[in-house]
Amino acid sequence: MSIQLSPLNEFQLKALEQLTQGAKPEQVIWLSGYFQGLAGSATLGSVAAAGTGQFDSATSAEKLPLTILYGTHTGRSEALAKALCEQGSTQNIACQLKPMDDYNPKQLKDEKNLLVIVSTHGEGEPPEMAEDFYEFITGKRAPKLEGLNYSVLALGDKSYKLFCQTGIDIDQAMKKAGANELLPIVMCDVDYEEDAAKWTTDVLAELAKLQPETPQHSASQLATGYDANVFSRKNPFKAKVLDKVRITGRESDKEVYHLELSLEGSSIHYEPGDALGVIAQNPPKLVKEIIAALGVIDNEVVETRIGKLPFNEALEHHYEITLLTRDVIQKYAEKTGSEEVQAIVDDEEKLDHYLFGHDVLDLLHEFPSKLTATEFLDLLRPLPPRLYSISSSQKAVEDEVHITVSRVRYENKGRQRYGACSTFLADRLEVDDDVLIYIDKNPNFRLPANGSPIIMVGAGTGIAPYRAFLQQRETANQKGKSWLFFGERHFSSDFLYQLEWQKYLKKGYLEKIDLAFSRDQEEKVYVQHKLKEQQEELFRWLENGASFYLCGDMKYMAKDVQITLLDIIKTQGGMTDKKARSYFKKLKKEKRFMADVY
Ligand SMILES: Cc1cc2nc3c(=O)[nH]c(=O)nc-3n(C[C@H](O)[C@H](O)[C@H](O)COP(=O)(O)O)c2cc1C
Repeated sequence: MSIQLSPLNEFQLKALEQLTQGAKPEQVIWLSGYFQGLAGSATLGSVAAAGTGQFDSATSAEKLPLTILYGTHTGRSEALAKALCEQGSTQNIACQLKPMDDYNPKQLKDEKNLLVIVSTHGEGEPPEMAEDFYEFITGKRAPKLEGLNYSVLALGDKSYKLFCQTGIDIDQAMKKAGANELLPIVMCDVDYEEDAAKWTTDVLAELAKLQPETPQHSASQLATGYDANVFSRKNPFKAKVLDKVRITGRESDKEVYHLELSLEGSSIHYEPGDALGVIAQNPPKLVKEIIAALGVIDNEVVETRIGKLPFNEALEHHYEITLLTRDVIQKYAEKTGSEEVQAIVDDEEKLDHYLFGHDVLDLLHEFPSKLTATEFLDLLRPLPPRLYSISSSQKAVEDEVHITVSRVRYENKGRQRYGACSTFLADRLEVDDDVLIYIDKNPNFRLPANGSPIIMVGAGTGIAPYRAFLQQRETANQKGKSWLFFGERHFSSDFLYQLEWQKYLKKGYLEKIDLAFSRDQEEKVYVQHKLKEQQEELFRWLENGASFYLCGDMKYMAKDVQITLLDIIKTQGGMTDKKARSYFKKLKKEKRFMADVY
């Protein structure tokens, strides 16, 4: 930073540089919020108070008590809750920030102000850490909460049938208990940042009204904490592709690629278990077909949610077109007035069926209607980045990040369908090209800090984070105590990273490996069958403190693995069903059962 460009003197500038050099992204975000808080405070004439970080000292008004509860799986709700708490602290609010699994819900009746930030997982279910709180508040034992002010921020994804269901249920339960809604529930889709920032600003403004004596920071003076100058979804890093290789055999019916990207010059830091966010690009062929079906001019400049853009560019880079969500089909029915489309929307079974394997082009082909380019864009949601479990350890690969990508391609109704990001990475991106990326932290999928035993279960690309785990253990020279269960279709063509596992076995970083190749024999063999075969030893590992990891497909694998694990605990532990469930629950609570499923 140049002294001429800043209002700071040389001494102040040095101090600032020392503070920010090597700071982690979350520390920079915190500092950004802190400084913006100072700025807000300064404009209100309480610089002295701000300078000490004591925002209440000038007024000595009593702080407003606020409890912020979050329920998260992949960490987004947690990050939002933390940012909210930091902003609240600059507003004379005494924030208590609590993960839902560390909060006794009986305390609810003593709360005055409560903000809940919660995501939805599974099929409309609460994240694991929110299960107990959810059961309590939605159950018979929920207390009367008439004196409580509250608001809910719900995170979700509109492509799921039960969008933001957990947040909705908690919101309804609060209402039923008589709590006073400070602000209506806000439900965020995958592009959650702006809605979340607005809710944060609005809810803090509502809380400020509860303190008439206190000087209020205007909403615009408060830090949002989301747009700090670090690499993120909104400010991704341009990474060069260093290498790209197909790692399934030519005869395989699956195309899986290993990609290595350069992080040089970014200071990006990631941990094994984190995911890489990739800014996706849609297939140009699909873009062309949509334009042809609409009969509009391809580069007509149109108004989009991010300003004026040529229509083809908007479709390729900014809107979701490779899949259909309920929201889109509902809006299409309304906009076009099509009774046929409305009939699909009104029939759950038909709708489920239609959403599966169809995209927006199917709507245009099957239920044609005259829409302008702008009207069409209004129906669509923004193109969300795609997340890939990182398959490298930064300790081992330093300025690189590796991912494992399965190319999504299938045929439906005589037309080839392509996954937006997987085909972008597999087909259209070459070595030396640039790709926009950021790190999506996953604090709930971490190696145990003490080097205790790990059991890793993955099918297909679900093996990716375990490559990162073993790379990390190799750099730390931590041998043994690791067991991998891997499943795919065929040994000869689908054994991802085979040579690497063999190397780890030989060197002792991997102690045991069990493989399930489902189509190499008559009867289907999956990872859960291998777990069952090894149940005695597996239970012994759990009893000896092992952590159990599960990564991969939610629908076809994760459920079966969890049922099998529960069964193993019951049989091997000689437990009743109830006892086995509470053993399993304890594993989750102690973060010894961790899942990254999609
Ligand atoms: C396996 C899985 C299942 C999900 N199920 C739902 C769902 O049923 N409904 C929904 O609205 N969102 C669902 N989501 C989307 C998450 O709620 C969304 O990604 C959210 O931003 C995650 O927030 P968190 O990091 O705080 O957990 C699901 C995500 C995953 C990975």
